[in-house]
Amino acid sequence: MEDKKQESGSQPKKAITRRSFLRGAGLSTAGSVLLTTNAFAIDYNEYPVAGEEFGPDAITIKMKVNGITKSLSVEPRTTLASALRDHLELTGTKVVCDRGSCSACTVYLDGEPVNSCMLSVFDVGEKEVTTIEGIAKDGELHPVQQAFIEHDASQCGYCTPGMVMSCVHLVDNNTNPNLEDVKKATRGNLCRCGTHPHVFKATLDASKKTI
Ligand code: FES
Ligand code: FES
Repeated sequence: MEDKKQESGSQPKKAITRRSFLRGAGLSTAGSVLLTTNAFAIDYNEYPVAGEEFGPDAITIKMKVNGITKSLSVEPRTTLASALRDHLELTGTKVVCDRGSCSACTVYLDGEPVNSCMLSVFDVGEKEVTTIEGIAKDGELHPVQQAFIEHDASQCGYCTPGMVMSCVHLVDNNTNPNLEDVKKATRGNLCRCGTHPHVFKATLDASKKTI
């Protein structure tokens, strides 16, 4: 282990690319995984040397979520959505399509919305993850969350966390959005219950309360 640590300190470390992640996910079913590693995401106690094979067994990584650094043990095939829901019990993030087409799984990576079902947890590295559980502050709902309640902008609720994440990002970055801005911000968020008109009204209303 000591040799490993010394070697890992002297070699350039590479981040897992999307291609290597997908390749790893496919190979894991055949019982063999070849992945390179993100130096920042790997716990150094179990950190494999760059270029060394690891998996399919879980390895321990650290990830900052909603302001708190968490330690979790994950297999190389794990997506960010799965890490949040299945390993950290942050089930507010929903997985509906699991293929990047509905945005129900939207979270922020360093403040920018991403579809967490499409991202390897090993690609998070030192970036901070914000989930729907991190949107309310000091027990106070964000104005968008409050407006969703007041405007009845949720039906079954499966799309709602992702929808809220998209709308919060809009009003936190645009003090005077119009209807087109809201439509644009939520264009990737599919709602099978047809709540969009309520979502639009709620978001425009909330934007007046965040100025
Ligand atoms: S669950 Fe991730 S985009 Fe649909
Ligand atoms: S509230 Fe049911 S999918 Fe949007």
